Amino acid sequence: MTAAAQPLAEQAFAHGKVILGGEHAVVYGCSALAASIPNALELRCSPLDDAAMLELEVPHWKLHRTIPARPELDEDRLTQAIRSLFEQAQVQPWGRRIQGRTELPAGSGLGSSAALCVALAKLALGPGADKDQLFDLSMIGESVFHGEASGIDSQLALNGGLVRFTRGQKPETLHLAHPLKLWIISSDTPRQSADQVSKVKSRMFRFPKLAAPTWALFDAQVQHMQHSILSNHLKDLGEMMQMQHELLSTLGVSTPRLDALCHCAHQAGALGAKLTGAGGGGCVLVLPPPEPHEFSCALQDAMQKDMNAVFPHFPLEIPAS
Ligand code: MEV
Repeated sequence: MTAAAQPLAEQAFAHGKVILGGEHAVVYGCSALAASIPNALELRCSPLDDAAMLELEVPHWKLHRTIPARPELDEDRLTQAIRSLFEQAQVQPWGRRIQGRTELPAGSGLGSSAALCVALAKLALGPGADKDQLFDLSMIGESVFHGEASGIDSQLALNGGLVRFTRGQKPETLHLAHPLKLWIISSDTPRQSADQVSKVKSRMFRFPKLAAPTWALFDAQVQHMQHSILSNHLKDLGEMMQMQHELLSTLGVSTPRLDALCHCAHQAGALGAKLTGAGGGGCVLVLPPPEPHEFSCALQDAMQKDMNAVFPHFPLEIPAS
């Protein structure tokens, strides 16, 4: 990164994301399908009285850090990510307060860490920055959160849209003839993506003969999924989502609560449901029935009956383009 020392920009936006299929496999070179949650995070920058400190506050994430210009011992993951990002950009963020506005839940598989890193990169490099530079800089921070990040979350956070993403390649934008209506259910269980990524890595390391057939199955399902989305074959798409959930379960990244939420979604008439993102907690992505008027009520009833609680859930529409 060659940017000269410069003040931070005043405002930056970044998108959240949902992965429709291919998470984890994408770390190993397979393709994944993902869509953005538009402008899910806004960061605003203002002066701070203390010229030797950077303050970052995102109330919805209960996040508040005061970071000194001089590094301290035992800094947490978030502080390390922020420090590395600004160091790499050769930007002095001291004497600034950064405040974030978002409704994305943190640590839930909806791309909160990538959105934060992309928005920080935009503050650091300014409004005229080149997209490749922004991506590279955001990945410095994102790799601290994800360990071995494929880059899918950062691409979505930066560029948005509905894409087929393969690590190291330019993402292919997909165009829908009809809007795609989805629901997201939060399991209210935050987790670290890096832990889930290393869990999968260790399983594949211990059983190396399983790797190639597992990734081939992911690739084939994602291929079918793409075809079903583009041809609006919702029943097939739902079935692919179900298979993706089962495959992700074999990798060890589902949980009893995620499985139960998928079951509730099916009981409420959903065509498909799967965990989305790294798993281990986080969210379930649901394809509702084609006429979803009563879906939300039916879902609430199913959760109440089976799980004795109604978990937060909200619709997400991927627009035609
Ligand atoms: C996390 O949103 C997606 C993973 O595939 C990790 C990554 O691709 O960086 C689990």
